[in-house]
Amino acid sequence: MTVGSLPGFVAWVTKRTQARCRILHQICNRCGVSHSNARRGTVGAVDAREWDARYSGSELVWGLAPNRFVAAELADLPPGRALDLACGEGRNAIWLASRGWTAVGVDFSTAAIERARRLAADARVSERVTFTVGDVVRGDGLGAGFDAVVVAYLQLGASARRVALRRAAEALAPGGTLLVVAHDARNLTEGVGGPKDVSVLYTPEEVAGDLADVGGLTVLKAERVRRPVATPDGERDAIDTLVLARRAG
Ligand SMILES: C[S@@+](CC[C@H](N)C(=O)[O-])C[C@H]1O[C@@H](n2cnc3c(N)ncnc32)[C@H](O)[C@@H]1O
Repeated sequence: MTVGSLPGFVAWVTKRTQARCRILHQICNRCGVSHSNARRGTVGAVDAREWDARYSGSELVWGLAPNRFVAAELADLPPGRALDLACGEGRNAIWLASRGWTAVGVDFSTAAIERARRLAADARVSERVTFTVGDVVRGDGLGAGFDAVVVAYLQLGASARRVALRRAAEALAPGGTLLVVAHDARNLTEGVGGPKDVSVLYTPEEVAGDLADVGGLTVLKAERVRRPVATPDGERDAIDTLVLARRAG
């Protein structure tokens, strides 16, 4: 960098700012994903930095309460070991820990993981939940033998999604439960919120297809579910894909 003078310095700052904006403008302002990368089905440092930018504000991005479908589907399971893939700020892992589970959350955003650790401490469940920075497509820090694996709103292109979901299924203990919840492709035309790029939206059929030949796994539910969302025009429904699967005991 050669700046040399005030105008030179101003030009350098402007160029830096524009470059940063170009990166940030690739992030959907509703979902925070880089659609260009998601479309290619790739993941990497740039994506993680973009998510870091999303998590760097003072507000919680996803709130403290668990996702309603995670709560509904897992509430009656006996506590065991749980894995929350792409855990974000950890709302689901923290909820599980508060119900007696020993939980592990993995996300490739360092900012998200730092926040998740703080929230776990605030909720006094740090002893029951561990948060780790890792890329779930690469399989970082996944481990095995989990009684429940949650994948909630992980937005990936088809090839990366398939890899991540199969890793999630393979991390199950015998008898373990896999829950996948995601923005559904139909949300674009019939729902509200979520990413606008169809390539990172799921369908129940695609998810069931991704998991079809995972040994010992049975898909118990593969459906679309509605999630009421407050909007300036009143309450509307977002449409999610929900897939529940169980590994043979
Ligand atoms: C929409 S947020 C959902 C967060 C959380 N599951 C929840 O429901 O509150 C999607 C999360 O996926 C994470 N993510 C995306 N790609 C990832 C990858 N390859 N490995 C790990 N985390 C990833 C992002 O950092 C982000 O926190």
